[in-house]
Amino acid sequence: MSFWNEIPRPIVGLSPMDGVTDASFRYITATVGRPDVILTEFVSVDTAAFAPESLLRDFTYSEVERPIAAQIYGHTPETFYKVAHIVCELGFDGLDINMGCPAKKVAAKGSGAGLIQTPALAREIIRAARQGIRDWAAGQTLAAIGIDGEFVARIRNANRMRCGAEAPAERREIPVSVKTRIGYEAVVVEDWIKNLLEERPAVISIHGRTLMQQYSGSADWSAIARAVEAARGSATLILGNGDLRSLADVYRRVTETGVDGVLLGRAAQGNPWIFRGKLELKDSVKSVCADSVPLPPNVAIEERFSVLLDHCRHFAAWREPHVFVAMRKQLASYIRAVPRAADMRYRMVHVNVLEDVERCLEDYTAALASESFPIRASWNSPPAAALRCG
Ligand SMILES: Cc1cc2nc3c(=O)[nH]c(=O)nc-3n(C[C@H](O)[C@H](O)[C@H](O)COP(=O)(O)O)c2cc1C
Repeated sequence: MSFWNEIPRPIVGLSPMDGVTDASFRYITATVGRPDVILTEFVSVDTAAFAPESLLRDFTYSEVERPIAAQIYGHTPETFYKVAHIVCELGFDGLDINMGCPAKKVAAKGSGAGLIQTPALAREIIRAARQGIRDWAAGQTLAAIGIDGEFVARIRNANRMRCGAEAPAERREIPVSVKTRIGYEAVVVEDWIKNLLEERPAVISIHGRTLMQQYSGSADWSAIARAVEAARGSATLILGNGDLRSLADVYRRVTETGVDGVLLGRAAQGNPWIFRGKLELKDSVKSVCADSVPLPPNVAIEERFSVLLDHCRHFAAWREPHVFVAMRKQLASYIRAVPRAADMRYRMVHVNVLEDVERCLEDYTAALASESFPIRASWNSPPAAALRCG
């Protein structure tokens, strides 16, 4: 039994989003919304095996995010075998394999959604990852698979910083899951899912689009329903994914398709509150009562700003000053629903440091109280380039 089976259904988890669901985003989402499960952004197995610096940055997490699965991608089984050891050593609760990324630089090399075209290799990769986990659980050291002492020391240090202990208290076998799409060019969901089921992953999460669709059109939930049928009788859980905007959407799709749960992606951007009604949602699904599905939470502006600031503070404490500009896109999504959003957005897309955000919120709050918009005029932050040189 893995942690996945212990979560009351329907499972409502946070979908991985490269460049979005970093350690700060996940920390805030876990603290405010408490999704049932969290997946990291995807990390290339080649980066993971050979570039400790960026691996440890991308795999930074905090205890509040548990259960958390590390998502990896690639196309060489041997590297998956190796990286599975690292994922275990870093104390993750699960290992998720990305077989859904449509980006050219990923899929054209045969990784991500490219694996839909090489089903035998996809299965080999699942087996290699699982074998890596088994061997680690049986006591195999990182040194034994050629990971150098400095890398091991950094992993230990990351563990110590996160939870006070250098290594996981026990060597247990963590579950392997797969996140994928319904096809490459055409929809081939039944054959593809049956192929994956041969390896009995704990979970298959399915985004209801093909690679060719990228993010266009709508997610095909009837294809996801066919995947549920294909998996009937197996121990693998099926999670549906794509275009879910609210818990009402989740209720509808879960009851229509019979999925064991869902992953929410874009709807959680600037909206960690979306997970808040998940317990009531589970009750509604159990009692088949759509009337008791929780409404989207009405978040007061003060709370919205306070969470936004916590998000920025976490990021500022974690990352180097010159990359604070990466917060701009996150900020824009927090303020979508506030009055005079366009005015505020203008300021938010120019912030360079935490103090800019604080000033912007102060100015906005004062302007709201005195009805003295616009607030653009008071803008005088230094450009990001100046910070980088300093
Ligand atoms: C900016 C962005 C980055 C993404 N990065 C990943 C990723 O690293 N791994 C992954 O499995 N899916 C990734 N996805 C796909 C999402 O996890 C999800 O499958 C997709 O957005 C559909 O769900 P949604 O409609 O709830 O957003 C990404 C999506 C977006 C928009």
